[in-house]
Amino acid sequence: MGDIGGEGAAAAEEAALIPAPGRLSAPAGAAGARCVVDADTGIEAAAGTEGVARWLRSTVGAATGLPLAPYREGESRAGDGRVRLRIVPALADELGGPESYRLTAENRVVTLDGASEAGLFWAAGTFRQLLGPEAFRRAPVSGRGAWEFPALTVRDSPRFGWRGLLLDVARHFMPKDGVLRYLDLMAAHKLNVLHLHLTDDQGWRVEIRRYPELTETGSWRARTKIGHRASPLWEEKPHGGHYTQDDIREIVAYAAERHITVVPEIDVPGHSQAAVAAYPELGNTDVVDTAALSVWDTWGVNPNVLAPTDHTLRFYEGVFEEVLEMFPSRFIHIGGDECPKDQWQKSAAAQRRVADLGLADEDQLQSWFVRHFDTWLGARGRRLIGWDEILQGGLAPGAAVSSWRGYEGGVTAARAGHDVVMCPEQYVYLDHRQAPGDEEPVPIGFVRTLEDVYRFEPVPAALTEAEARHVLGTQANVWTEALEDARRVDYQAFPRLAAFAEVAWSRLPAPPDRDFADFERRMTAHYRRLDALGVAYRPPSGPRPWQRRPGVPGRPIDGPPPAR
Ligand code: ACM
Repeated sequence: MGDIGGEGAAAAEEAALIPAPGRLSAPAGAAGARCVVDADTGIEAAAGTEGVARWLRSTVGAATGLPLAPYREGESRAGDGRVRLRIVPALADELGGPESYRLTAENRVVTLDGASEAGLFWAAGTFRQLLGPEAFRRAPVSGRGAWEFPALTVRDSPRFGWRGLLLDVARHFMPKDGVLRYLDLMAAHKLNVLHLHLTDDQGWRVEIRRYPELTETGSWRARTKIGHRASPLWEEKPHGGHYTQDDIREIVAYAAERHITVVPEIDVPGHSQAAVAAYPELGNTDVVDTAALSVWDTWGVNPNVLAPTDHTLRFYEGVFEEVLEMFPSRFIHIGGDECPKDQWQKSAAAQRRVADLGLADEDQLQSWFVRHFDTWLGARGRRLIGWDEILQGGLAPGAAVSSWRGYEGGVTAARAGHDVVMCPEQYVYLDHRQAPGDEEPVPIGFVRTLEDVYRFEPVPAALTEAEARHVLGTQANVWTEALEDARRVDYQAFPRLAAFAEVAWSRLPAPPDRDFADFERRMTAHYRRLDALGVAYRPPSGPRPWQRRPGVPGRPIDGPPPAR
């Protein structure tokens, strides 16, 4: 836990908050005092707090069965119990930015003060944790009329403004309800950026009205490789699905109510076989018979990349026009990772483009492609973000970087004055296995335990303080080649996402000094919250029988995390 006074220790232990708050204290001289919430507790919502009041009624109200009726000053109520919701902008300076909050619980009054509505929302999340695991259910189970927890004060603010989760809904589609559920799970952990990986070789998942084939053809595949690409196993049935534009608007609105931004990713110029299968003219037609391509049914880095033509640029401007209408996010992710250059090397058309533009090589051609969309997005008031390969051939002036191949991309970009989001695969790729041995389902990548994730430090050690200010935050990525449904996603994401959330939110000591034993103690309570939420996490003792995938080959990699 952060900074806890002596009187607060018992309260902190009972509260078991995750992520750990900045400061938690108990009222002086009132050790053991309790706060009670019951049927007489109203919600006193100041102007600008109505959204949080609505969220409290729909979650805590549903779970407890308490009316949480509107409270109005001057009305007589037994005991005047209430939850007060207020916006107190001065808290931003006092505690650390617009997402700061202060929660004070005493006797029958809980006061939630947020520096902004977002800060207030995080305060409401802390309040829900204080009520106990049952507050995470969707209906009451115990019939109790009063809920109590230690009287205390929490002062809290996040370390990073970008606390992200990537969901790869391209490799295996996650139906809309699953995404909404993940937004709830993110909110419960004070995460605030959902990076939706919407397109890849294996599927195109978002309706684009002017290009219907992207989803007609591009959103499904005839069969699917089971396990790592070297596996001989296939699932011989179609897999597919996509979000309509109204589905996306619903997802974005649901996220906004939870103070989460949805950052869409349309991956170009690599990872594009589904788009090429839908519109073969987007591919390198002078090198491959793109009309014969279908949506890819296996995994790996795919050679069928976009052709660097004016037609391709215009086509994707059309895609991004609709994407911008759906997603209000300032950042728009254009992918940019793993674009093999073989086809561009062989393509006379691509080589003419290199010569016409006076470029040195195909890396610069990719850079030209990315710069085009950097300028295009900038002219529309948005900012481009891409995977760290967009550094190759020169980074576009306004671009931000998702540093995934390690820390180096983040270091290079930050030193050049670009903003970065740290998501190195060696630490926070949650599709990687979480224990050694044969029992982990489809074991891929490095072993990264709960403790490893807890000891992840997002800011590269090589950066000066000034350079480190370009680190917008950090993100955990859940790729789904080996995760066929939401329960498998749960298994890989949890419990590690709880540790990640604490890394992203809390101002923890340097990794060697982090108190993992204290985190584990709080996890005991947190597992009960995850149970109430219906999360199919990996139990500390290992996978349950039905969580294993005997006989499905993965691809384990050995090796310690690299130095920061
Ligand atoms: C990535 O993992 N290819 C961004």
